[in-house]
Amino acid sequence: MRLIAITNQKGGCGKTTTAINLAASLAASGSRVLLVDMDPQAHASSGAGVQLAPNAKTLYHALSGSPEPTALQETIVAVRGGFAVAPGHILLSTLEQELAQQEGGIGRLSHALAGLSQPYDIILIDTPPNLGFLTFNALRAANEVIVPIDISSFALNGVSKLFNMLELIKVKTDHRFTAVKALVTNFDKRSKYARQMLGLIRSTFHHQVYTTIITVNIALREAASRGVPVVHFNKYASGARQYLALADEVKQDGRRLDAQAFAESSQALLKRVAFELHHPEAQAIHVVGDFNQWSVSEGSLLSRRETGLWSKEVELPPGRYRYKFVVDGQWCEDPNNPRSEVNPFGSADSILLID
Ligand SMILES: Nc1ncnc2c1ncn2[C@@H]1O[C@H](COP(=O)(O)OP(=O)(O)O)[C@@H](O)[C@H]1O
Ligand SMILES: [Mg+2]
Repeated sequence: MRLIAITNQKGGCGKTTTAINLAASLAASGSRVLLVDMDPQAHASSGAGVQLAPNAKTLYHALSGSPEPTALQETIVAVRGGFAVAPGHILLSTLEQELAQQEGGIGRLSHALAGLSQPYDIILIDTPPNLGFLTFNALRAANEVIVPIDISSFALNGVSKLFNMLELIKVKTDHRFTAVKALVTNFDKRSKYARQMLGLIRSTFHHQVYTTIITVNIALREAASRGVPVVHFNKYASGARQYLALADEVKQDGRRLDAQAFAESSQALLKRVAFELHHPEAQAIHVVGDFNQWSVSEGSLLSRRETGLWSKEVELPPGRYRYKFVVDGQWCEDPNNPRSEVNPFGSADSILLID
């Protein structure tokens, strides 16, 4: 499950628009998506078409715990865009007073999300336009961050402030984001200023900027005012195409992050083993086994020291391996390893156990 906060302390830069339309675009491609509306203005909820009864439970009730705690799952509603919403509420603005002094207050959203009974592939969290308690809660819960940047009124120092805060959160909470990426919004390609700023952003943030750019598109505003994501309002609008492209990019990033996490975890499991054979007269010694498909190659060659000791270090995950040495073309067992086993060809392989 990916948890992505959409954050920038500046108002009007497209956080809420991105939250709604990315949620709908991800859902359109088959992901199970939950949009968590952490903004007391609750624009993400209304823009996604949530209509609440006056006494309905909202995200506020799930986080506040008073008068009695409500499970977050109970507050979630399905919307026409094909995703789920944990609706925001004006009372969220009182949470800071209520929780800031409490132990675990800053981890309240993270805690509530951990208790969800429904599985989601991606959870998007919309945040208010400030760096206060609610935004901190969202960032504490998230492991990725999208920072929309309104290029038409771009101020580099605003973004550097935000990146400084993310750095501070990492240090203060020992929290590691797997990805932080900027999203250029409100781009007007006729504007020379916007084109120059885009160049500046790309050269500042390099791979930490989405390739997809969101241009100025009135359909996004109209869709929000009618409470539908743009892909369902007008799928031919440039905003619809761009948010679908962004969803593709977000999914691609997910696959890359998974592969990275897998590589890191399997790297951590690897054990270093040394194969050694004393043989001063040999010209070339290889070690082959089921860990290298029994293939004699440059990579299987042992190196010789002056003493006539040949050795090679290999990193392998825990397991049971069969191997042989190949001394000047002759396949033989490891004479220093008492553990061996007969193979289907009638000779014996040496056995290596790594636990
Ligand atoms: N690409 C865009 N083109 C035109 N209007 C946009 C675009 N993105 C957002 N808007 C409009 O700008 C206003 C602010 O956007 P919003 O997403 O609510 O910003 P934030 O959540 O960062 O405050 C809204 O009225 C929204 O409909
Ligand atoms: Mg907003």
